[in-house]
Amino acid sequence: MCFGLPLFASCVRASLRVMSGEEAHQKSMADSAWLEELQLPQVLISERVRSLHATIEQEWDYLRRSACQTAAGRALWNHVIRDPLAAVLAGESYLRSLYEKMRQDRLSNAREVSGVILAVRTLWFDSRIEAAINSFGDRGAHQVVLLGAGMDARAYRLSCLKESVVFEVDFPELLQIKVSLLKEMMASSKDQQIVMIAKSLVRVAADLREGDWIEELQKRGFVPTRNTVWVLEGILYYLSHLHAMQVLEVIAANCNLTHTVLLADFMNKSSVSLSNSTFHFYSDWPDHLLPTLGYCHVKLSQLGDPDAHFGLLHDPQNLFNKLRSLPRSMETHPEDGTPCRRLYLVEASGGPSQDS
Ligand SMILES: C[S@@+](CC[C@H](N)C(=O)[O-])C[C@H]1O[C@@H](n2cnc3c(N)ncnc32)[C@H](O)[C@@H]1O
Repeated sequence: MCFGLPLFASCVRASLRVMSGEEAHQKSMADSAWLEELQLPQVLISERVRSLHATIEQEWDYLRRSACQTAAGRALWNHVIRDPLAAVLAGESYLRSLYEKMRQDRLSNAREVSGVILAVRTLWFDSRIEAAINSFGDRGAHQVVLLGAGMDARAYRLSCLKESVVFEVDFPELLQIKVSLLKEMMASSKDQQIVMIAKSLVRVAADLREGDWIEELQKRGFVPTRNTVWVLEGILYYLSHLHAMQVLEVIAANCNLTHTVLLADFMNKSSVSLSNSTFHFYSDWPDHLLPTLGYCHVKLSQLGDPDAHFGLLHDPQNLFNKLRSLPRSMETHPEDGTPCRRLYLVEASGGPSQDS
C-alpha cells in the first residue's frame, strides 16, 4: 500500500528504462544517497511521539492510517514539497516502508519512483488552492475547507493561506492525535520555529458519512455565504458511492450561495476494481458528472498533463504519459491488456449566478 494509491504504486515499480552513460553515472551518484540509512528527526524517536504513533498502529483502521501514508510521501519527496511537519505526522514505520520502496525503485532504475503520484497530486492541489484564492480577488473574505484533512499541514506551509480561515474536517481521534503530535514537534524545534501561516485554523471532528457534517462545520464558524475553496484530496474514493455523491451535492448546494471552487481527485472504475481494493466511489467522467450536480467550469487534468507533472513525469514512456495518450473511454491497454487505471485531478467552480 502506498499513500492511498496502491494500484499505481504497484504499477510504477514494474516500469523500467534503459539509461545513457552520463545518466547512469549521475544515477549512481544519486543512488549512493539511497544506500544510506533513513535519517529520522530527533523528535520522532522521543518517547511521547513513539507512544502516539503506537496508538495509531494499534487502534486506527486503514481509513485513518491512510493519512500517515500520505504524510510519509510528502516527507520523503521533500526535494519538491516543503512540509517540515510531515515526517512527525507520518511516523517512523510509514517513513521506513516508503523509503525502502523508493530505494528499490531507484536501484532498479524504475521509470517512476514510488510516491511520485502523491508528489504531483500535492503540488497540483497547492497550485490550484493558490489560484482559487487569487480568483476571489477583492470579493471579500474567504475560507478553505479540507475534507478528510488527515495529516495535511497546509495551514503551516502555504503562504497563500495567510488571509484564509482554514477548516480541517476528519475523524475526532485523528484530529486529537494530530494536535498532540504538532505540540510535540513545536516544543522540540526551538531553533526552527513552526508557525501557523493561515489566518486561523479550525479543526472540525465529523464523519462525512453522517448527514450532519455541514452543520458541524457551521457550528465551528464556517459561513455558507463566504467565498470558499473546498479541498477533497484523497478522500472521495474512500467513501461509498452514496456518501461521495452526498458530499458533492452538499457542496454544490453551497455554490448557489457564494463563489465556490471545488478541487478534488477522482479514481476511474478500473482503479477501484481490484479484488483487494479498499476504494469504492469512482467516476470515469467527473467532468460530465459535476455539471449535473450544479458545478460549472469543470477542468479535468490527468497525471502528466502540462499542469500536472511539475517536472516529475518527463519520461514520455512512463505509465502516466502512456495512459494520457489513450482515449479515456478505453478500459484496457491495447498493448498488454492491463486495466487503464487513472487518477483525475478536477477543478470546478460555481457562484450565485453561475457566472464565476
Ligand atoms: C488518504 S488520507 C488523505 C488525507 C489528506 N487529504 C492528504 O491528502 O494528505 C484520507 C483521509 O480521509 C479521512 N476520512 C476517510 N473517511 C472519512 C470520513 N467518513 N469522514 C471523515 N474523514 C474521513 C481519513 O481519516 C484520512 O485522514
